Amino acid sequence: MSLLIRGGRIIDSTSTDDEGRTADVLVDGDRIVQVLDAGSEVRADDVLDATGCVVSPGFVDLHVHLREPGREESETIETGSRAAARGGFTAVVAMPNTEPPHDSRVVVDFVRDQGRRAGLCEVVPSGCITVGRAGQTLAPFAELREAGVRFFTDDGNGVQDAQLMRRALEYAGQLGLTLAQHCEVASLTHGAVMHEGACCSRLGLPGWPSLAEELMVHRDIELCRLTGSPVHFLHLSTERSVDMVRVAKAEGLPVTAEAAPHHFTLTDEALSGFDPTFKVNPPLRTPADIAALKRGLADGTIDAIATDHAPHAPHLKELPLDQAPPGMLGLETALALALTELAMPLRDVVAALSWKPAAIAHLADRHGRPIAAGEPANLTVFDPSATWTIDRGQLASRSRNTPYHGRTVRGRVRHTVFGGRAVVVDGAATK
Ligand code: DOR
Repeated sequence: MSLLIRGGRIIDSTSTDDEGRTADVLVDGDRIVQVLDAGSEVRADDVLDATGCVVSPGFVDLHVHLREPGREESETIETGSRAAARGGFTAVVAMPNTEPPHDSRVVVDFVRDQGRRAGLCEVVPSGCITVGRAGQTLAPFAELREAGVRFFTDDGNGVQDAQLMRRALEYAGQLGLTLAQHCEVASLTHGAVMHEGACCSRLGLPGWPSLAEELMVHRDIELCRLTGSPVHFLHLSTERSVDMVRVAKAEGLPVTAEAAPHHFTLTDEALSGFDPTFKVNPPLRTPADIAALKRGLADGTIDAIATDHAPHAPHLKELPLDQAPPGMLGLETALALALTELAMPLRDVVAALSWKPAAIAHLADRHGRPIAAGEPANLTVFDPSATWTIDRGQLASRSRNTPYHGRTVRGRVRHTVFGGRAVVVDGAATK
């Protein structure tokens, strides 16, 4: 099957500005076979109109909860993959906090196979750092590596024990793996519901101090310095975290970081109505933190925009605020929030959504590639100026817990091509 993407503006890692170049992209099988001058005479089995759109390498999300196995009432690998494809993602890293978790070959093989079966994007299982994510014993890194896992995290939990984290980094370094930390010192967050600050005092809710994140960022920068092994910081939320990562990078340490759209678009004030939709871990913070995250994204301190897509079924998110699980949907709204809220060149937004996270997740051989003949056809076509209103009823996710219902945003994914096949056409999933 051949596919022609007509009349789009190409922005990829070789672009030096936001103008890109208007061209037609011919795909055959799972590869790009030709990039032609726009309007060239060429035949193809299918044509996707990209007029007025950007054609970019497919997006890569480093941080997605797909809930399968174990919590299929909230999401399945198929429904989550469909949400990913609609958001322009051609690869998603599946977080390990499933039931059972990703600490054995059988589970990661299952997750990858379910992703293949869905066929809507590449589902890349992460591995646990510790058995059962319990923070006691290292997970079998070598066995998981053999199963293709390169990115390890206990996400949902931070690794509390510094000695265990040191050993994990030493071992990961030998095996060429990347460890990703959920930065939370648990002794500082017991019972916490929202950011510790003026708003939580006013509401009378237990506070979650910024320090809980920053202490672990600081510790892991020092463990990175000691071991020389790469550390990726998940969902950073505070100004001081960003500042520490900036300094560590300037010192040449192999650290990388991501930020989630909700952390650069919403503040703790969103919890004034006690609505659990706005409960998330780490919590929504302050305008100063938002400004710092935006600065960090703009200057490259924060490498990637990652959604922390965390579906929770309605009966869970309808629990009282202190009992409801933390987390919010992200896959289908990430691009629009980034384009609406970040004053960054388009190329830099695409970098943070595509080739930079692809490199962090060890996927750079097949995602985030330049758009050129011979490259894998994992592509996103989006209209950067289309405005639309987010409607939770229209999402492909099995859950409904978006904090953006009713918000009007700019930038919309039009088509997604995964493995040479159009899995989203004009905003609708084809399967
Ligand atoms: O808000 C969150 N939800 N943060 C996490 O780290 C875990 C996630 C989940 O699994 O729901």
